[in-house]
Amino acid sequence: MRGAIAAVGLLIVVGLAGGAARIVVAAEEPMTLADGPGRDLTIGRCIICHSLEYIPSNAPVMNRAGWQKTIQKMKDRFGAPITDEESKEILDYLDAHYSGKV
Ligand code: HEC
Repeated sequence: MRGAIAAVGLLIVVGLAGGAARIVVAAEEPMTLADGPGRDLTIGRCIICHSLEYIPSNAPVMNRAGWQKTIQKMKDRFGAPITDEESKEILDYLDAHYSGKV
């Protein structure tokens, strides 16, 4: 019981110290992607460096070519460890679920 109280106390302290950052983390926690083939691979590769939120928030301006460029950029510019085969699967997935622009 004392442990539980200490844990709650710690959460509050972290919460207060965290300020705005804490709100962002809380908002990201339930974040996942639409169900479908390639979802787990996409989550696994893209979450290495940043929030998955980048995907739905870019969806309105994206199409297949846009996602292809983005994946390539993640690889070329940021060194994302994604093979060509994986890129294709991720591209199919992103295009199927997150291409808002036709
Ligand atoms: C090796 C690290 C890394 C990986 C892995 C990675 N990204 Fe990124 N990504 C970045 C960085 C760094 C930025 C921020 C670039 C900026 O601020 O301009 C970014 C930004 C983005 C953006 C915002 C738009 C843009 O072009 O800057 C999108 C969309 C995106 N990533 C999608 C993805 C997707 C989809 C995957 C998985 C296939 C992925 N990223 C994997 C590093 C990575």
